[in-house]
Amino acid sequence: MTAILGWLSILRGHKPVRDVPSTLAIIERNAKMQAQLIDDLLDMNRLASGTMQLELAAVDLALTLRSARQALQPAADAKRVRLVEGIDPRATPVRGDARRLQQVVWNLVQNALKFTPAGGQVELRLEREAHETLVTVSDTGRGIAPAFLPHVFERFRQQDSSTAREAGGIGLGLSIAKHLVELHGGTIAAFSDGEGKGARFVVRLPAADPAPYPRANAVDQPGPTVLSA
Ligand SMILES: Nc1ncnc2c1ncn2[C@@H]1O[C@H](COP(=O)(O)OP(=O)(O)OP(=O)(O)O)[C@@H](O)[C@H]1O
Ligand SMILES: [Mg+2]
Repeated sequence: MTAILGWLSILRGHKPVRDVPSTLAIIERNAKMQAQLIDDLLDMNRLASGTMQLELAAVDLALTLRSARQALQPAADAKRVRLVEGIDPRATPVRGDARRLQQVVWNLVQNALKFTPAGGQVELRLEREAHETLVTVSDTGRGIAPAFLPHVFERFRQQDSSTAREAGGIGLGLSIAKHLVELHGGTIAAFSDGEGKGARFVVRLPAADPAPYPRANAVDQPGPTVLSA
């Protein structure tokens, strides 16, 4: 907010501003960060007070991953970080809130990009196991120290607040992601072999029931037809 007000007062001032478009871009970037911060605080409040409402539907996570990759590709290009995806064609839709699951994926990918220097790689994977669908976001970035790893999902916790602040953020993203995943009946875990060794975040969501068959025990529905040879 201070940055926005500062640049606005420069624009209002008597001295001509040399580069108005970049000044406006700075103001816009800072305003977006403020809006994000307010959204995160409101979400945290809803999650902590148990008033977050999920709009449940069948969610195609392959689509969620692809759109996250497309949307964040320019940020990755600007940082010279390779962004790759691997999608298991056997993955079936999960039952969840599309917007909230997108928020989880974006938080993880944005972190991975933020903490991976130029020349590194961020990978998004979607896999299907027997009863679960897994989303993995891994990077070759700065990694997480063993002492900090158990605290990554705590709100307002950052390994190095000076670097994080440089890149934006106050330490709410992972806490929100964990709450949201758990509201979906899933789990989220963080792995890293240590500082400088990259990080991996794995979200496990219960696989949705197979396409609903007519229930054999429903009052007015016929049972499945049994074909005899
Ligand atoms: N991919 C990663 N590699 C290394 N450290 C990470 C990674 N993801 C998260 N962390 C560490 O965990 C901390 C908490 O992450 P979280 O997403 O909650 O906060 P943030 O990204 O700093 O801020 P915000 O998400 O509110 O913008 C980060 O500040 C960083 O120290
Ligand atoms: Mg974050």
